[in-house]
Amino acid sequence: MNVDVLLSPTGLTPESLRGRFVVVIDVLRASSTIVTALVNGARAVIPVAELGDAGRLAGAMDSDVVLLGGERHGTALPGYGAGNSPLEYTVEVVSGKTIVLTTTNGTAAIAAAKNAEATAVGCFLNASAAAGFVARAFAAEKPVTLLCAGSDGQVALEDALCAGLLLHKVVPPSAASALGDSAKIAYALYRGSKDSLPRALVGASHTRTLIALGFGDDVAYCSRIDAMDALPVMRDNRLVLAASAPATLG
Ligand code: MLT
Repeated sequence: MNVDVLLSPTGLTPESLRGRFVVVIDVLRASSTIVTALVNGARAVIPVAELGDAGRLAGAMDSDVVLLGGERHGTALPGYGAGNSPLEYTVEVVSGKTIVLTTTNGTAAIAAAKNAEATAVGCFLNASAAAGFVARAFAAEKPVTLLCAGSDGQVALEDALCAGLLLHKVVPPSAASALGDSAKIAYALYRGSKDSLPRALVGASHTRTLIALGFGDDVAYCSRIDAMDALPVMRDNRLVLAASAPATLG
């Protein structure tokens, strides 16, 4: 099996992920918001790295079907229809909508994977679905990267824990010694914390930031492992839900 973990996108070049199968992980909160929005009936989520590009794209779309959402440093943006709290992306708000989403780290990480052969979005909420994507890539002998969005170029504990969880689901302990160092770190981090995950998450920097901003409920929501059997995959620059056929790569 060929799998590596990038604990943050720092140093990625447009060529780094070419030909790879990539799971982008931003537990708090972009990945969790994307999974939630699609499960709640959004037609697609278009991830956009830059604020100006997001505004222009949404402005050029039919206002009846587009929802412009996002945040910078956890805070909702003036003039946007939604922030980046997954709890905002209810059935009533998103059903039938195409969401243009721009976030501080998560959508930039997804954009950084633009040359990947296949891109999926993972978090605790859809951990088994994301692990299934990895397992199917292994079965097809495709190289896999778990790309953690991190925080402003630094490692984010919750993303590393989630990468470790995905590895835990697909890499048998006997094969762990062959993992690269970043994957070994994520794998060991998760295995050391799995019986006290809520406590580990409470210690994460971005958890504390979100709680200070009044988003404690988001942290609890995003911490639920396998709450959703759904896999967002990139198709024509949009994230849509993968068909559930287990034999496909997305
Ligand atoms: C990000 O992309 O950096 C995050 O999703 C930030 C957040 O909204 O908590």
